[in-house]
Amino acid sequence: MTINILGIETSCDETAAAVVQNGRHIMSNVVNSQIDIHRQFGGVVPEVASRKHVENIGLVVEQAISDSGLSYADLDAVAVTNRPGLIGALLVGLSFAKAFAYGIDKPLITVNHLYGHIYANLLEHPHMEFPAICLVVSGGHTSLLLMHSDSEYDLIGETLDDAAGEAFDKVARFLGLGYPGGPAIQKAAASGQPGRYSLPRVFLNRSDLEFSFSGLKTAVMNEWRKAQQRGEADVNDMAAEFQYALVEVLVGKTMQAAEQNNARSVIMAGGVAANSLLRELMTQRGRELGKPVYYPSLSLCTDNAAMIAAAAYPLFIQGRFAPLNANAQASL
Ligand code: KG4
Ligand code: ZN
Repeated sequence: MTINILGIETSCDETAAAVVQNGRHIMSNVVNSQIDIHRQFGGVVPEVASRKHVENIGLVVEQAISDSGLSYADLDAVAVTNRPGLIGALLVGLSFAKAFAYGIDKPLITVNHLYGHIYANLLEHPHMEFPAICLVVSGGHTSLLLMHSDSEYDLIGETLDDAAGEAFDKVARFLGLGYPGGPAIQKAAASGQPGRYSLPRVFLNRSDLEFSFSGLKTAVMNEWRKAQQRGEADVNDMAAEFQYALVEVLVGKTMQAAEQNNARSVIMAGGVAANSLLRELMTQRGRELGKPVYYPSLSLCTDNAAMIAAAAYPLFIQGRFAPLNANAQASL
């Protein structure tokens, strides 16, 4: 039997829709990014995001269905991100999905955005070894999950304050590198040298699996001001040291979790998993420890709807449909 799920994602600043067959085959994947609009404000403006989603959602969904080569009648369910995210933005996707599902008389499935990021891996690496450690690193979350299978997880660690992506965004803003911060820092760091400034590897030597990134951000500010006073402020070197300090902690804690839990593989999910240094160092450490490291291709790392349709597939099989009065949740 072939199951085609239409996925819809509007939790932040991408309006996205995709059709995925049997939870594995991407038939279409359309992402309309609002980054250029929010860049002028230095970050996502929630109300602007909601309005742009309203303008774009119909076109994006039509495009995804047309690219898939399928008709409305071929769709078996409509899946939509309903948590966590910007509440107004989530409500646009959720309301559209409800109306669309009702209109084509197919079930609605509500999806946790973070599960979507995890499923981006399963889309591309269907034969991952479990138990696995999953590092979820996005703009709003930094968590370590022990995955017993593709659908059973325990949360074993998380950040006590800022998320990794949030730290990238705040530091980039402070250094005047623009939005979104992760790609901006990565680009600046490519022309700089880590080690010229000294930033802390927060909690790296602790045995627990907690993270903290707000102190790292403050340390960047202090070091930067001192460097400015000495007339030695180099934005590329600071970006390089910041990126190294943050990535070393992510890699160290993830591999510590993998060893403590005898994980057979390590996976990374969320926008920060697009970071090239993180991909490189995690893969290198994984090789040393005999633990294969998986991450999605770049287009599936950041927000998209293919991952939402993929995450909805097991829910479809289990018949876990949502009522038409389902609500959105800003946080988990
Ligand atoms: O998963 P995502 O697209 O949206 C959320 O669910 O939050 O993640 C966005 C975050 C932003 O903080 C962005 O700066 C970060 O991912 N990001 C990166 C890179 N690309 C995106 N961080 C570091 N390096 C990158 N190359
Ligand atoms: Zn995301």
